Amino acid sequence: MKLVIATRNRHKLDEIRAIFHQPALEIVSAFDFPEIPDVVEDGTTFEANALKKAVTLATATGCWALADDSGLEVDALSGEPGVYSARYAGEPVSYKANNEKLLANLEVAGDRTARFRCVIALSSPSGVARTVEGSCEGTIGLEERGEGGFGYDPVFIPEGHTLTFAELEPEAKHAISHRGRALRAAAELWGAMLEQHPADWPE
Ligand code: IMP
Repeated sequence: MKLVIATRNRHKLDEIRAIFHQPALEIVSAFDFPEIPDVVEDGTTFEANALKKAVTLATATGCWALADDSGLEVDALSGEPGVYSARYAGEPVSYKANNEKLLANLEVAGDRTARFRCVIALSSPSGVARTVEGSCEGTIGLEERGEGGFGYDPVFIPEGHTLTFAELEPEAKHAISHRGRALRAAAELWGAMLEQHPADWPE
């Protein structure tokens, strides 16, 4: 059975492939459908964007689709960058510029608490979609540390740890991350959806 991951973000795709593996499942991605244009992420919530990406890819390809919309919420910045995490420092998208802007904006902040949030949407080929969510609490460090991961990983220290996500081994990140938690819930949701929509099973 085929599942399309509705992303052209290589880092997200690698993490999703590492976490969401099921027997007899062929995982493909938006890279395999170059004729389908990028989905405009104009929702104001993670859920709205995840649903839009999953339903668009599923109905355009005729396959089941899985989409991830995620970001970092920083308490001292009233939840920013939130759904705008990817483009926090503007275009062109730069993880380095985003981290520098975040550290500059937190220079005088006493409270450095934050959380990563991830909403996963699953859509059947006919566009029947559901979502699940995962989050990971932590704090923003004083500087970038580590070479692993992507995005804000070098500045995010998960609760109960001293290393940043970028300093942890990938398996250690996935065990506690927002994406790991959401994808483990998505595996259960998918099983339930397949039972509910047998007409969507491939021949
Ligand atoms: P999206 O494509 O709108 O979901 O963008 C998500 C953005 O949130 C990414 O570009 C990163 O900046 C950030 N982000 C999401 N998940 C992670 C993660 O696991 N580590 C670091 N940054 C992340």
